[in-house]
Amino acid sequence: MCLKEITNKIRSMSLEEKIGQLNQAGLWDFELLCEEVRKGRVGSVILADSATAGNDEQQRVIIDQLNELQRIAVEESPSHIPLIFGRDIIHGYRTVLPVPLAAAASFNPDVVEKAYRAVAYEAANDGVHWTFSPMIDISRDPRWGRCIEGFGEDPYLTSKMGQSVIRGFQNADNKKGDSIAACAKHYLGYGAVEGGRDYGKAEISEYTLRNYYLKPFKAAIEADVATVMNSFSEISGQPVVSSRYLLHDLLKDELGFRGFVISDWAAVAQLVTQGVAKDRKEAAALSANAELDMDMVDGCYIDYLSGLVAEGKVSEETIDKMVYRVLYIKEKFGLFEHPFITRQKIDYQEHLELSKQCSDEVITLLKNKDVLPLDRSKKIALLGPFLHEKRSLLGSWTWDFDIRMVKSIAEVFEEYAGRELLVFPQSNYLWDDIIPALGDVDTVILALGESYRVSGENNCLANIDLPKEQLELAKRIKGLGKKVIGVFCFGRPIGLGEADIYFDAILYAWQAGTCAARSIVDIIYGKVNPSGKLPITFPRSTGQIPIYYNYHTMPRNGMGYYGEGSNYLDCCSTPMYPFGYGMSYTKFAYSEARCEKTALTLEELKNGKKFKVGVTVTNTGEYDGKETVQCYVRDLLATMARPVRELKGFSKILLKRGEFKEVVFELGSEELGFYNGKGEFCVEPGEFDIFIGGDCTTNNKIKITAVSETEN
Ligand code: NOJ
Repeated sequence: MCLKEITNKIRSMSLEEKIGQLNQAGLWDFELLCEEVRKGRVGSVILADSATAGNDEQQRVIIDQLNELQRIAVEESPSHIPLIFGRDIIHGYRTVLPVPLAAAASFNPDVVEKAYRAVAYEAANDGVHWTFSPMIDISRDPRWGRCIEGFGEDPYLTSKMGQSVIRGFQNADNKKGDSIAACAKHYLGYGAVEGGRDYGKAEISEYTLRNYYLKPFKAAIEADVATVMNSFSEISGQPVVSSRYLLHDLLKDELGFRGFVISDWAAVAQLVTQGVAKDRKEAAALSANAELDMDMVDGCYIDYLSGLVAEGKVSEETIDKMVYRVLYIKEKFGLFEHPFITRQKIDYQEHLELSKQCSDEVITLLKNKDVLPLDRSKKIALLGPFLHEKRSLLGSWTWDFDIRMVKSIAEVFEEYAGRELLVFPQSNYLWDDIIPALGDVDTVILALGESYRVSGENNCLANIDLPKEQLELAKRIKGLGKKVIGVFCFGRPIGLGEADIYFDAILYAWQAGTCAARSIVDIIYGKVNPSGKLPITFPRSTGQIPIYYNYHTMPRNGMGYYGEGSNYLDCCSTPMYPFGYGMSYTKFAYSEARCEKTALTLEELKNGKKFKVGVTVTNTGEYDGKETVQCYVRDLLATMARPVRELKGFSKILLKRGEFKEVVFELGSEELGFYNGKGEFCVEPGEFDIFIGGDCTTNNKIKITAVSETEN
């Protein structure tokens, strides 16, 4: 169907049929749903049993059910329009990838894109047309359980990762039905909920909104994301789900989003709970007039829009615009041509390898006092609550996995190491049993972690420090004089301030998916050289939150994160581990940053000229390895306070032993400018420090200048 045909189709539909297209129903009562579909009262079905599906046991997709519903829609419903089936495929289907926060630690959008392509293929093969992913909310608060679903604290990294996930999901041949539509969520500012309390209120100024929270959405639209989901929350008193400014003026008119907006679960009806609508009918009017296109499960649109049009409170023209967007996406993803599921044979082994590539690249070495890679001749013992764990290695928001594909850390070690290994059988040991058993053991590998149930939606923590029992275990083992390698399987950053000293090495393994344990063991034995870098700052303790690398210059104690002064009497201001940080088994030497031409006029920048800032990186160590070269900008003088550093480029390179490579970053208006308080984008004249190095604290810098015409 071409675009004109969509318009004609809409003309031929009754108001009720149109409203049906804006209604997403649940799958609770199959017979009832069939009836509703037959009447043309359903445009989409969400394949989930509950709102917080990320952590609940859920029914699997039943292909015959989907085909039957689709048959009714295309053969028996009045307008014969196919349904679009949506399910939360967040970071995996049968094959599970690292949680998104961990994926960001790879700093490798290509690897991530390929892996998500495989996931899309698996989901599409079961009839899923649409996923509610990626989550591209900036999160600076690891107490917020949903920080694991996003890509961390930085808008640039989040934008790049979001785009690669969108491309992975969407960019196969749509018409063949092996792509799925993506959904950028939760628009807007959901990650800024106060205190990390899910669903809470966010206070965001226009300046912060545009310079931080909006950027990943702009990038998602550039990557042609099919749909956008609203945030449950309010921004400064305005619930997003009823904000015409955010959903229409900014998203559609200004950013040029062409797909449709889906509400989050029952978010329209929640306007009543938020005290903004007196009843569900008024809620439907508010959201429809904001042009929130599709209503997820609460039935407000299907129950009230027809009456609201009759009363003149919502115009039919508005409804038509919303329906157009829904049909445009259905057409784009080939639903009119291929409404039914055509199953293909999947090579799961290939997908497993893609997942392994991801987990190899996300695991982040935070500390290594010459214990890793581990000498195979050493006698080691394996201990800790995550040693035999499988389910939690997959993280939150996974429900279609095949647990038989997952191995525990103990299982993989046993395959590798054989006799010299002492594996403690369960996690609740008696200390008196441990001490004698550890007698001649040289090194203890302590597998620690948090359940997949303490992160994700509505799973926030007031305290993110290492759980007490785990801290105690580490302390006691270190007290025996053993070398301790901590393998940390957490979805979020944790406060390591108190715990750090008890570990000789810290391998932050996140919750890295189906191949997590294989990657952990490969890294411990040096088969894989770790290359993950932190996408989010690790605080020393919970009390330091929020702590993020791109904070603004303060009038006093301004460089706290970077080592000078503190705003606390009882804690320093530096993080435990900064943004962008991660070790390797090899060493990388950076040349001084250089730039051929260090001054450009504003006119030149406006016309697309860019500074080319480069560096040579050499692998001076003993192993081949991958390094993420990072480029940060600091605007030294501006009309608004600007961040101390802002990531504006990164490049992950593989360097063999002794090899060197030149890496060049291009910096133009987009990288040097910012949105001022009035929402205008501006590039101001003056000097900028450009930092290039292996994490955000690098001091390898060069000055460049944007020259105003009058100075020239
Ligand atoms: C609520 C969550 O906030 C959202 O991210 C998810 O996609 C929907 N539920 C659907 O399950």
